[in-house]
Amino acid sequence: MSDILTHIDAGVMTLTFNRLDKKNSITGNMYAAMAQAVDQAQADAAIRVLVIQGHESIFSAGNDIGDFLNKPPSTVDSPVFHFMRALTMFEKPVIAAVAGPAVGIGTTLLFHCDLVYAGDNAAFSMPFVNLGLCPEFASSMLAPQMFGYHRAAEALLLGEAFFAEAALEIGLVNRVVPPTEVNAHAQAQAKKLAAKPLSALIETKRLMKGGQTKALIERMGEEGQSFRRMLTEPAAKEAFGAFMEKRKPDFSKI
Ligand code: COA
Repeated sequence: MSDILTHIDAGVMTLTFNRLDKKNSITGNMYAAMAQAVDQAQADAAIRVLVIQGHESIFSAGNDIGDFLNKPPSTVDSPVFHFMRALTMFEKPVIAAVAGPAVGIGTTLLFHCDLVYAGDNAAFSMPFVNLGLCPEFASSMLAPQMFGYHRAAEALLLGEAFFAEAALEIGLVNRVVPPTEVNAHAQAQAKKLAAKPLSALIETKRLMKGGQTKALIERMGEEGQSFRRMLTEPAAKEAFGAFMEKRKPDFSKI
C-alpha cells in the first residue's frame, strides 16, 4: 500500500500518512505524491476542502532522515519544496488532524492549515537546530507571529516539544479531542466546509491571509537556501549520523 493514501469523498480530499513502521516520516516520493495531490485539489473544482491526517498514535516524525542523507533536496524543484509551495498557495480550506508526535515539517505544515484539531496526546516539535539545520516552511516567520518571539525562540532554538494544551493556548490548534476522535472530528468539520459556497471560502481565506503569501514564498526561498547548504555541513552530518546509529550527537567540536 502507498505511504500516502489519497481519498476523495463528497468534495473532501483526505491525505493520510501511512508509514507507521517508520513513524510516518516523509520521503521524497511521499512529498512528490503530496505535492501532486495538492495540485490536483487546487485544480479540480469538485474538491472543496483538503484534510491532512495521520494515525491516532503519530502524525509524522518529519523528514525521513535516511532519505535526506541519501537524496538531499538539492534544488528548489525538489519534491519537498514543491509540496511546501503548493500548500502555501493552496486557495481552498485545509484542515489538519494531529495525534501523537508532529516533528519538524509535521508541525511546520500546520502553520499553513486553516483549522487544526489535536488529540490530547499530540506533541509538537521543530528540532531543526538539534539537527544542525534551520527552520523551514516559513516557520521562522510564522512561529514568532503566532507564538510571540520568546515562545517561538523556545520552540525553535531549544527545539523542545510542546503539547496539545500549550498549542491550544498559543492558537496553533483549534480544539483538543481524544486521539481516537481527531480524524473523525476533522472529517466532520470538513463536511461542514464542503457544504458552503466555494467562492466565498476562497475569497475569505484570501482576505484573511492578507497578501502574506508572497512574503511566505520569499521566506521559504531564503530558508531553503540555508537549509540545503546546512544539510551538507558537519553539524547536520553528525546529527543525522547519530540518529542512524541510535546514539546522542556530539556537537562539542562543531
Ligand atoms: N526518519 C527516518 N526514520 C525514522 C524517523 C525519521 N524522521 N523517525 C522515526 N524513524 C524510524 C526509526 O528509525 C525506527 O526505525 P527502526 O524500527 O527501523 O529502528 C522507527 O521509525 C520507530 O522509531 P522510534 O524512534 O523507535 O519510535 P518512538 O515511538 O520511540 O519515537 C519519535 C517516535 C517520532 C518521537 C522518534 O522516532 C523521533 O524523534 N524521530 C526523529 C524525528 C526527527 O528528528 N525528525 C526530523 C525532523 S526534520
